[in-house]
Amino acid sequence: MHRLAKLDHQYVWHPFTQMRDWLRGEPLVITSGRGALLRDIQGREYLDANASIWTNLHGHNHPRLNAALRRQLNKIAHTSALGLANEPASLLAMRLVRSVNPAAVGPFKTGPSSESGRQRKGRHERRLRAEELCKVFYSDDGSTALEVALKMAYEFCRRTGRSRSPRFLSLQGAYHGDTVGAVSLGHIDLFHETYRGLLFRSDALMAPYCYRCPFNQAQPERADARQYRCCRWECVEQAKRSFQRQKKRSNPYAALVLEPLIQGAAGMIAQPEGWLKQIAELTRSEGALLIADEVMTGFGRTGDAFEDGTSGRLYACHREGTQPDLMALSKGITGGYLPLAATLSTATVFEVFLGEYEEFKTFFHGHSYTANPLGCATALASLDLLETQQSRNGRQRLERVLAEALTSLWRFPCIGDIRQVGLMAGIELVRNWRTREIIPLREKAGIRVCEAMARRGVLTRPIGNVIVLMPPYCMTARQVCQMVEILESAMAEVFGFSND
Ligand SMILES: Cc1ncc(COP(=O)(O)O)c(C=O)c1O
Repeated sequence: MHRLAKLDHQYVWHPFTQMRDWLRGEPLVITSGRGALLRDIQGREYLDANASIWTNLHGHNHPRLNAALRRQLNKIAHTSALGLANEPASLLAMRLVRSVNPAAVGPFKTGPSSESGRQRKGRHERRLRAEELCKVFYSDDGSTALEVALKMAYEFCRRTGRSRSPRFLSLQGAYHGDTVGAVSLGHIDLFHETYRGLLFRSDALMAPYCYRCPFNQAQPERADARQYRCCRWECVEQAKRSFQRQKKRSNPYAALVLEPLIQGAAGMIAQPEGWLKQIAELTRSEGALLIADEVMTGFGRTGDAFEDGTSGRLYACHREGTQPDLMALSKGITGGYLPLAATLSTATVFEVFLGEYEEFKTFFHGHSYTANPLGCATALASLDLLETQQSRNGRQRLERVLAEALTSLWRFPCIGDIRQVGLMAGIELVRNWRTREIIPLREKAGIRVCEAMARRGVLTRPIGNVIVLMPPYCMTARQVCQMVEILESAMAEVFGFSND
């Protein structure tokens, strides 16, 4: 075993990993990467088929991102955001606010104004409406971005008198991170049940998991279950009932927290078209806040192309015309380079925290590396790349190529459902597609398929029996086909099928 692999075995405790299994094998030690490829210590190359746990956008070792990072490094690596501003953090905040308010143009102004609309127009400024996202609170990762949103919503509801003990609603199977607040919003028993004693209670709303929905009357077909589902939107009815029930208890929900369009760690559960819009409208009509966790879905991951070839929708929420009150961003924010996160809030939420010093309305939350200049500078370069026509075209092409490649998987009887949203897909393995029979987790079907893929040069990580494919945006058509072909031969090996 290589010395570095031995050191890993001796000293490192890996996340979400049964370390007994880990210590039985030889770890892959990655030493470099370029584009969609990773290279290990032995010089073997692998396709990065899960974009380094859903973070990487433009590929590894990208010259533009490298240059931006080096430029910033030559100025300063870090300075505190407690009491100081810094150049890339200010610029990035403006860019993020612009990108999350798609209808907006020009420089923005927030807060009370003494100018007339005409004066403002003359200066090409546009005042953000109260419901638009206008303030950026930085933190370090997806979990802390959610933690921040949660605390903001909690205080907002108490201070506005909506609730004295705010209660939150999130989706079945929800995963919003691993800090205690984020875990409290989670509903994956396997991960979360152990910590029950540490958590506050939140309620679970039925997730629109069409493939396994008890209300879906359709027999299984060789297609994404969202396309052939046969139901009456009972999931939306259930949501209405949840809100009503809680209202009757004289403690209406403070907020609904959700991953828009697709729930990742729940098993790549993609929502049928129209669900998000209905749920967002319901949440609004009930007066609760909508918190969008775009940690996985943000920055073009869900596709941003319109039919007419134009684009501009970098966030999942906007694909159904919805706008949250709080939005959590991380993972892809730096193109997969550095840990950074942002929670964006509306002026309505922000203003509740304004007051005289001695009123102590301050938002008492912050981290040492908040607004880290290296992360912010890289994020700016990543946004520049995302907004180029070349990147847009590339993303549109990748989405089509992936869709086309995935169709060949339906010939395998162990494929139950294939859920593609933009540039990501979840492929659900089952015992038998005709019965949707679940393969027990102890059989490690997903893990074995991914191990077989790794032996063939493709790296990804399963979620139970769901194989995740989430290519960096720079992946070529050839690499996409190779990735799917290798998945096929891995399934053939694990399930004992012929791969003709
Ligand atoms: C939707 C979503 N929210 C939050 C998180 C937590 O992010 P992090 O792992 O950066 O803390 C994740 C991580 O996978 C996620 O997928």
